[in-house]
Amino acid sequence: MDNTKAVKIAVIGGSGLYDFDHLTPIKEIYPETPWGYPSNKIRIVEDSRGTQIAFLSRHGHGHQYNPSEVPSRANIAALKHIGVEIIIAFSAVGSLREEIKHRDFILPNQIIDRTKGIRPSTYFEGGIVAHTPFADPFNPLLAEIIYSHRHCLGAGVTLHRDKTVVCIEGPAFSTRAESLLYRNWGCDVINMSALPEAKLAREAEIAYQMICMSTDYDCWKQDEESVTVDVVISNLTRNAASAIKILAEILPDLEKALAEGKFKEMKEVMKGSCITNKQ
Ligand code: ADE
Repeated sequence: MDNTKAVKIAVIGGSGLYDFDHLTPIKEIYPETPWGYPSNKIRIVEDSRGTQIAFLSRHGHGHQYNPSEVPSRANIAALKHIGVEIIIAFSAVGSLREEIKHRDFILPNQIIDRTKGIRPSTYFEGGIVAHTPFADPFNPLLAEIIYSHRHCLGAGVTLHRDKTVVCIEGPAFSTRAESLLYRNWGCDVINMSALPEAKLAREAEIAYQMICMSTDYDCWKQDEESVTVDVVISNLTRNAASAIKILAEILPDLEKALAEGKFKEMKEVMKGSCITNKQ
């Protein structure tokens, strides 16, 4: 018997958040999309209240895809295919601000694109042209819901909101001159994963919010060791429990907001964006 209900909420796990073993597994799916297979099997899991969510590990099994190689078009298309309307995406970030400390959480509301144009970042090509509204790349209602549960993160962990994430190509970390430049540009945190994921979610008319977890001070800070994978992983491991906790807390609110049609306008966000005349 297929015991899958409509799955409208998805979680994309980043570095350090590769599985969702604390929830009851229902099934795994691995749909082939016109853009290939997603980075891993999508796990449908159920919480104690019976809400089913789809979990996808961005970097694949054993972290096999570097940020430039993540099959983002397939990932978002596969989630759209199963009916997902909301994506909560986790990502490790470096902090570009003194006040954003190791293991703090951040809700960005803006992105600066420092990827190099080598990541396929649109569904509209090959004869169909669309210009996506992307002034505000994240969903403010999702951010609000998440922020309202910040107290569950525990003592000493701050959730910062309305921050700017700069997304670099990687896979190398930044030079010190770049890190200082991003600070001067007004960026607050740095990662390699916000794009094209956020853009593709918008094209797919899915409400998308990234929850960033601060693991390091990149390399701008004089009195800190520059970022290394060891530092990132050790702080992420210590953060995973908080990530799971806040997710458990927000799920009922997400379901309620969905039931009340609060994300309805997302389903029309691309209306009028296609400029190609197909007569
Ligand atoms: N992810 C975690 N820390 C990072 C950093 N300093 N730069 C880019 N991506 C990161």
